[in-house]
Amino acid sequence: MGKPKVTVVGAGFVGATTAQRLVEKEIADVVLMDIVEGLPQGKALDMMESAPIEGFRTKISGTNHYADTKDSDLVVITAGLARKPGMSRDDLLFKNAEIISGVVLECAKVSPKAILLMVTNPLDVITYLAWKKSGFDAKRVFGMAGTLDSARYAYFISEALNCAPSDVDAIVLGGHGDEMVPVPQHTKVKGRPVTELLDPAKIEAINQRTRDGGAEIVKYLKTGSAFYAPSSSVVQMVKAIFENSGKMLPCCVYLTGQYGIRDVYCGVPARLGPGGVQEVVEIALTPEQKAALRTSAEHVRENCGKLSLS
Ligand code: NAI
Ligand code: 2OP
Repeated sequence: MGKPKVTVVGAGFVGATTAQRLVEKEIADVVLMDIVEGLPQGKALDMMESAPIEGFRTKISGTNHYADTKDSDLVVITAGLARKPGMSRDDLLFKNAEIISGVVLECAKVSPKAILLMVTNPLDVITYLAWKKSGFDAKRVFGMAGTLDSARYAYFISEALNCAPSDVDAIVLGGHGDEMVPVPQHTKVKGRPVTELLDPAKIEAINQRTRDGGAEIVKYLKTGSAFYAPSSSVVQMVKAIFENSGKMLPCCVYLTGQYGIRDVYCGVPARLGPGGVQEVVEIALTPEQKAALRTSAEHVRENCGKLSLS
């Protein structure tokens, strides 16, 4: 059987690095799409020229035309503006909403059966917008942020414990913003909860560094935002989808009452498969964490209201 067809819209830092990881790991054949003429074509050709050295047999091509993305199994959408120092993710709302509305309509037209995996910020609102604009079942429209926030959490914990980053199985819930909710009692190092390994003050310091994780990178880069860990996080989700691994990952999904939250997109644990979201998993939270998750979801809802979507 051939490889799945994945389109990555936006050939910038996140999009191009995602495309590179997808072809190098031979997860999918990739079409890289951007409005800037030559940019996706040049990056795709450059990646193909690395194939003899890297040893992958998957293909990548670049385009400025949606016709070339036809019948994609999955579309990763990274098009839009990234934040600069001093900007919050919410500051990107109106401009990115305009860009994403157009992108989603085009993608839905040529790939009506695709899964839409959203990345553009502000992530949770943009994912809701994509669901509305596409008319797709909500199971096929979801977003990446929780896997990134959890990867950052895991890395900071591994630093504190001087253990291998991959030994940490971390979980961060909520919207991709300042109100995200790290969940230390379900974050485990070789099966042991981090609450047994670090004192509460250290855990709270790591929680806060995780909430500020995106801004910490923006402050260093000055002209854009993170893309190595974000692209790894997208690829982790794409792999789970095509491998139907049943792995529980924090994803930005449509909630229909889970965690007491309804009709909004927010980060919670989910299982992904070829049809999209297979299951939203409800894990036990403290009353404070439940309240924080609802506050975060209400913040997303408030921003969705600014877009006057019905
Ligand atoms: P970038 O500026 O490097 O790339 C964006 C690309 O989108 C550019 O190449 C641009 O030409 C393209 N683009 C703009 N309008 C388009 C359109 N109508 N059709 C097709 N392509 C279009 O930005 P970067 O760093 O790749 O970030 C992309 C987005 O991802 C930003 O909104 C950023 O905030 C978000 N992001 C989200 C993360 C998450 O956890 N959900 C993590 C990292 C970034
Ligand atoms: C991040 O958290 C930009 O949202 C992106 O790095």
